[in-house]
Amino acid sequence: MNKKSLNIEYVEYDSINGLDNELLNLVHAADDNLKNAYAPYSKFKVSAVCKMANGELVKGTNQENGAYPSGLCAERVAIFAAKSQFPDQKVDKIVVTTEKSTDLPVSPCGACRQVLIEYEITQNQPIELTMKSGDSKIWQFKSVSDILPFAFNGEFLKEKG
Ligand code: THU
Repeated sequence: MNKKSLNIEYVEYDSINGLDNELLNLVHAADDNLKNAYAPYSKFKVSAVCKMANGELVKGTNQENGAYPSGLCAERVAIFAAKSQFPDQKVDKIVVTTEKSTDLPVSPCGACRQVLIEYEITQNQPIELTMKSGDSKIWQFKSVSDILPFAFNGEFLKEKG
């Protein structure tokens, strides 16, 4: 029997002041994009910006639906759009912001984590993930795998040997 443990490192910023210029621009781009969220039911607006390896920014917002489960989170809207427009480009970073301040930054739901990690694994390069909610603290993770350890992925489907 082996007892094991996992340590996850992330950086917490108390305000946007500590961010480098690139990240500051991405946070501003995400916040500016919050107005495009379609969240008439929850009133909880979320925005996500993907920074691609070629420098392109692809934005998304949550898109809700009267038939609730048909809606989609901002993170998936953004990364699906990004990989549809730039299928050969790696995703360097994703920044997620919400309009509302919460005690802790809003972090992607389980389904979004699974979608993000699919691209992280297949591009063979970590996707840096930053979260900011209203004027809450900011959290930055070096890799999506930090928030989805032990993820299921397509490698499991391959034949062994
Ligand atoms: N939502 C996101 O877009 N991203 C998240 O990380 C968490 C939740 C959306 C889904 C729904 O439109 C609203 O926020 C409330 O759950």
